[in-house]
Amino acid sequence: MNIVVLVSGGGTNLQAIIDGINNKTIENTKIVEVVSNNANAYALTRAKDNGIPAKCISPKDFDSRDEFNEALVEEMDKVNPDLIVLAGFLVNIPAKMVARFPKKIINIHPSLIPSFCGKGYYGLKVHEGALKRGVKITGATVHFVDEGTDTGPILLQKAVEVKDGDTPEVLQRRVMEEAEWVILPAAINMISQGLIND
Ligand code: GRF
Repeated sequence: MNIVVLVSGGGTNLQAIIDGINNKTIENTKIVEVVSNNANAYALTRAKDNGIPAKCISPKDFDSRDEFNEALVEEMDKVNPDLIVLAGFLVNIPAKMVARFPKKIINIHPSLIPSFCGKGYYGLKVHEGALKRGVKITGATVHFVDEGTDTGPILLQKAVEVKDGDTPEVLQRRVMEEAEWVILPAAINMISQGLIND
């Protein structure tokens, strides 16, 4: 199964996928390209360090959002992967891309959807919301991407304990280590093994 991974930041979820392929917890899967909207994303370095083709397609390089969207869809059409993985990708996926790749785009979100998700909930803001609400359990969710934000069918979730004195940064790290880096590779493996029926 050929996958493209879309990234925006540090790429720790990308690294978990790379490691999963190398240690065979993810079977018959190849990352054929990594694409970032952010030229400075360390995730691009991780790709290059692992011999994976990597490129930046940034909205800054286009006169309009529509032109950026077109370029992104064009790139996906050209590579034509079996699965597109959003791993910390902070750009809205064009409806045209969702339509071109039905049930072939998955996203990792750092909360137990439907809590702390949707517009404005990304990165640390998710954990700030969880701490502000005072939840005792949070976690991460892998879901299929549809036209909405964090609204597609849920594939996997994993719970993580919130501890007294947690800061958003400490909680984010625990959610990454204990949940994101576990369920994203697991979801990819389930799909590559044909365990997900449409
Ligand atoms: C993390 O907050 C993760 O929960 C979310 O994107 C952020 C960066 O992840 N999905 P990464 O280190 O770039 O994979």
